Amino acid sequence: KMRGIKAEDWRGTAHIHNDTVSASSNMDMEDRVSHLEQRLQLQEDEIQLLKSALADALRRLGYCEEQSMVMQPGGVHAAGRRPLATTASAPPTKGKKSMSTERLTLVRREMGAESRSRTTSSSSSSGEDGYVRMFLRGRPVTMHIPDQQRESYSLDHKVALPDRKLKLQWVYGYRGRDCRSNLYLLPTGEIVYFNASVVVLYNTEEQQQRHYLGHNDDVKCLSVHPDMVTIATGQVAGNSKDGKLLAPHVRVWDSVSLNTLHVIGMGVFDRAVTCVAFSKSNGGTFLCAVDDANDHILSVWNWQKEKQLADVKCSNDSVLAAVFHPMDANLIVTCGKSHINFWTMEGNTLTKRQGLFEKHEKPKYVLCVAFAENGDAITGDSSGNIYIWAKGGNRISQVVSGAHEGGIFSVCVLKDGTMVSGGGKDRKVVLWDHDYRKQAEMEVGESFGPVRALSEGKAGELFVGTTKNSHDVLNKTCNMLQGHTDELWGLDVHPSMEQFVTCSQDKQVHLWDTNSHQPLWSKTIEDPGRSAGFHPSGTVLAVGTMTGRWLVLDTDTRDLVSMHTDGNEIISNVKYSPDGNFLAVASHDNFVYIYAVTENGRKYSRVGKCTGHSSFVTHLDWSTDSQYLVTNSGDYEILFCGDILTWEASSGKHVTNMDTVRNLEWATHTCTLAFNTFGIWPDGADGTDINAVCRSHDGSLLASADDFGKVHLFSFPCSQPRAPSHEYGGHSSHVTNVAFLHDDSHLISTGGKDTSILQWVVA
Ligand SMILES: *[C@@H]1O[C@H](CO)[C@@H](O)[C@H](O)[C@H]1NC(C)=O
Ligand SMILES: *[C@@H]1O[C@H](CO)[C@@H](O)[C@H](O)[C@H]1NC(C)=O
Ligand SMILES: *[C@@H]1O[C@H](CO)[C@@H](O)[C@H](O)[C@H]1NC(C)=O
Ligand SMILES: *[C@@H]1O[C@H](CO)[C@@H](O)[C@H](O)[C@H]1NC(C)=O
Repeated sequence: KMRGIKAEDWRGTAHIHNDTVSASSNMDMEDRVSHLEQRLQLQEDEIQLLKSALADALRRLGYCEEQSMVMQPGGVHAAGRRPLATTASAPPTKGKKSMSTERLTLVRREMGAESRSRTTSSSSSSGEDGYVRMFLRGRPVTMHIPDQQRESYSLDHKVALPDRKLKLQWVYGYRGRDCRSNLYLLPTGEIVYFNASVVVLYNTEEQQQRHYLGHNDDVKCLSVHPDMVTIATGQVAGNSKDGKLLAPHVRVWDSVSLNTLHVIGMGVFDRAVTCVAFSKSNGGTFLCAVDDANDHILSVWNWQKEKQLADVKCSNDSVLAAVFHPMDANLIVTCGKSHINFWTMEGNTLTKRQGLFEKHEKPKYVLCVAFAENGDAITGDSSGNIYIWAKGGNRISQVVSGAHEGGIFSVCVLKDGTMVSGGGKDRKVVLWDHDYRKQAEMEVGESFGPVRALSEGKAGELFVGTTKNSHDVLNKTCNMLQGHTDELWGLDVHPSMEQFVTCSQDKQVHLWDTNSHQPLWSKTIEDPGRSAGFHPSGTVLAVGTMTGRWLVLDTDTRDLVSMHTDGNEIISNVKYSPDGNFLAVASHDNFVYIYAVTENGRKYSRVGKCTGHSSFVTHLDWSTDSQYLVTNSGDYEILFCGDILTWEASSGKHVTNMDTVRNLEWATHTCTLAFNTFGIWPDGADGTDINAVCRSHDGSLLASADDFGKVHLFSFPCSQPRAPSHEYGGHSSHVTNVAFLHDDSHLISTGGKDTSILQWVVA
């Protein structure tokens, strides 16, 4: 490939081979060379254009096929679905007669650490007494069978997998906080980036996403092959549900078909692949990767042969970027904490030359590297300086000091040879000319946060990835991928519209539109948020926080309508009664506070308090007649609370007569411990494996959010031990909540640590 080679280089060659060249023929030669160069460039552009058109046509074809399948009744379940789009788990094969006491070991994953706990789980049913008993951590949990089912119920009854499935439709999120160089425009017109374990291909014009779902834990890096179709993504080490280590690796896949082409480094990488890059000048044959283990091993691979060519300890300090020189596939540049290294590969050895800062300010971090058209390396660093490293050397040849106020997280050389740089602290995007003179600058809105990634789009477009997880297309200024940045639990769906609300510990409340995938509004509140609930009228919504405070917001105007405090602990649930006349506020202080609600959700007065739990309240549901509550607690208790209309001013009545409550109909099914939902519990569950459940409004499906990053779909009722389910990955940490949209067309799931929001089509 000759792209990027300058006319000067050719002139030199001509002189060597013919030292009798006259001045005039030299001109001829120059003209001819530049003419050839131009033609070559034109041809390359044409090829690129053809490839783009083909890739886009294929993508559209795929989409049409999918649509026509959805149109045919039953067609969705037919073969021919994209194999990677869904991963349905096989039904458990252990069809035991009844659940006997079993000892099982279970590994829980929490905050990256691993803790083993021996647990016991079993259940037994007693026809006479009409209950099922399950043991969680040795505690008996008794669930009463409704009279209607008492006769026919049997623990051995076989339940079928639900006949509907989920398909990931939208990912609300972008990993901007701690990853960079992770945003590219593909010839299909899609931008590619990742969130949690999903790689998203997002067509901003058509407002459509496709998803690569081959990874099983957090994706940390991404590289696009020079062919613009092949993509490499690297992931971290994870833990599976059964405690197995999921090895970090790189997946090479086709961005048009979404087929996995190669899996690289399984068992070789140790902690996490944090940098990955294809070579450019040799047709993209090589791939380099950096492992985030102590030695930060840099390895080079022939990715098509899945063969490692070389590896070397890169640095003791963290490495933030590794890239091949665009003109030399044997030259790699790595940078990170107080270093920049230039590596030369000869055979299977990599030789290091450290970048010398000499008299120039040595930065704490070299944050990013790019290459100018002439082959010079350009770095941006934490001190806000841009250094130019002359091609082939390890010395600074030019300095743009104070290019930004604070760190420079991205530099991007545009097709016309000019350059843009993106600042963290100053949130500025600056345009530089060929001689590194400032041409223009613009500031990214404060709500987006610091700039982390820059990528050239179509003519005049620039994609900007920021830490507050938004992609801003300059001059289009759409706020496309806003999301939460801290532990996320609060979720509820609008009672009649295609909207849902989320709130997280980042103190943000977002109201989302599921069609446009945009927030209708966002509001910052004073306390970290934890739970949310819509009033049945949809005019207001309640938000529970981590501090005992809860508030009511107007759904249209986001104005504060009311604010109260009950205790000083986490409000785990805020739920209105189906008739809208009461609000139940469940707290980690073991109580549920009941408020009478008047004036269509605008006025609140406390009428009671449910007591009786000896641990924090985790879930709660209202009966359809708005007269009773059922609650679960942190120590696996189920309590009923009722007679609300006749409640004394300060105490709710704790109902113990099971004949009253066993036949109650519940408006929602979000309690994980209940006769109609207990089938969700896996073998050896310790009671914290499932964070949330939700029944579809038509009463046929039950979704659960597990602690291992999976969403499950069961048939409802789910009253058989270890009921079979479809299982779906995508989240990379504990799934904290699930909710079906009012019309059951979609399911929304939220991730705790990964703070991602996934929208699934139910079909
Ligand atoms: C060198 O250039 C001269 C003048 O253009 C030409 O006549 C001659 O054939 C060239 N020699 C070679 C070896 O290409
Ligand atoms: C997912 O997206 C959210 C919202 O944009 C972001 O805050 C979070 O860091 C991302 N998480 C991961 C694990 O990619
Ligand atoms: C890493 O640290 C070790 C011991 O502190 C030292 O011997 C080694 O040279 C360092 N390696 C690099 C690449 O800096
Ligand atoms: C982008 O917007 C700015 C200011 O609104 C304008 O000056 C500039 O010409 C626009 N650029 C393009 C490529 O449209």
